[in-house]
Amino acid sequence: MDRIVEIEKLSFEGDFETSLRPASFDEYVGQEKIKQNLNIFIKAAKKRGECLDHVLFYGPPGLGKTTLAHIIASEMGAGIKITAAPMIEKSGDLAAILTNLQEGDVLFIDEIHRLSPAIEEVLYPAMEDFRLDIIIGSGPAAQTIKIDLQRFTLIGATTRAGMISAPLRDRFGMDFRLQFYSPDELARIIQKASLKLGKNCDDSAALEIALRSRATPRIALRLLKRIRDFADVADEGAISSARAKEGLDALGVDARGFDDMDLRYLQILLEAKRRPIGLSTIAAALSEDEGTIEDVIEPYLLANGYIERTAKGRIASHKSYESFKFGIEKGLFDD
Ligand SMILES: Nc1ncnc2c1ncn2[C@@H]1O[C@H](COP(=O)(O)OP(=O)(O)OP(=O)(O)O)[C@@H](O)[C@H]1O
Ligand SMILES: [Mg+2]
Repeated sequence: MDRIVEIEKLSFEGDFETSLRPASFDEYVGQEKIKQNLNIFIKAAKKRGECLDHVLFYGPPGLGKTTLAHIIASEMGAGIKITAAPMIEKSGDLAAILTNLQEGDVLFIDEIHRLSPAIEEVLYPAMEDFRLDIIIGSGPAAQTIKIDLQRFTLIGATTRAGMISAPLRDRFGMDFRLQFYSPDELARIIQKASLKLGKNCDDSAALEIALRSRATPRIALRLLKRIRDFADVADEGAISSARAKEGLDALGVDARGFDDMDLRYLQILLEAKRRPIGLSTIAAALSEDEGTIEDVIEPYLLANGYIERTAKGRIASHKSYESFKFGIEKGLFDD
């Protein structure tokens, strides 16, 4: 079953998310430093009549990387081509994409850490000199043909900064790490989105939803959508705090925003009584791959001090023990 606080995009959500996606920096809430910097670099590039330097975004899923890429293209008045690294299998695939770009276009490559080394080699001269080096033949007779490309801006996004090769990372003119959102910021996102959906959302209701959204806009919007259903069924024109609470409880979202997966993760650590547990052990116990645990479950728990990462493995923090004392005493963690 899909988690209600699942961070990765669920397949049926495409249209819903797109319709709520902010179209400009003004509508994009939070990430103030990133917005300020990008604004300046975009203005400067436009003033000089150049295209923007290549940009790398990294951070956990659902924090707004793809959204920023769209906003940059629109602020630059540029076209945007979107692809993801797993779709670029052969260097010919990348060559086709690059040669089809128009002057000034933005090329967005999602999951850029998954490019193969051979594809990265093709990307380097394209990023640096807007040039493709194509090797024809092999051995002593091999020839390199150089093809000039239109100037473009590459925007890369990744949830796994640590997995990007150093040479690739070095070729980006700027990189930005997206931060988790504060409850106030999320509440603003929720209220704006709610209006777009044709419903008012009370301040207290927005905050209630925000607090249970794991500091992530994608989750906040998903919860909002479900709670709107509760309000619709009750024939209410606005989303009230009472309705939000009822909806959140009915959806089984924990008051800390934790869901079943977080709880199972924490249970493993809590039961270990501060003995470090390795990532591979946790992954096996949860039947999840290590990457998902590192990218999807852990960042929020780390950022909020629920776990500690040591050389020997993961440990539940004192905050976790405090926070779950009640649950442990009541045997809520027993199977
Ligand atoms: N700062 C923001 N202000 C308003 N809405 C936002 C903001 N950030 C994200 N959103 C909303 O959350 C949704 C998810 O954001 P987005 O798809 O950009 O995340 P992402 O970082 O690209 O995630 P992934 O790593 O899974 O690709 C967007 O559709 C958008 O509506
Ligand atoms: Mg994305």
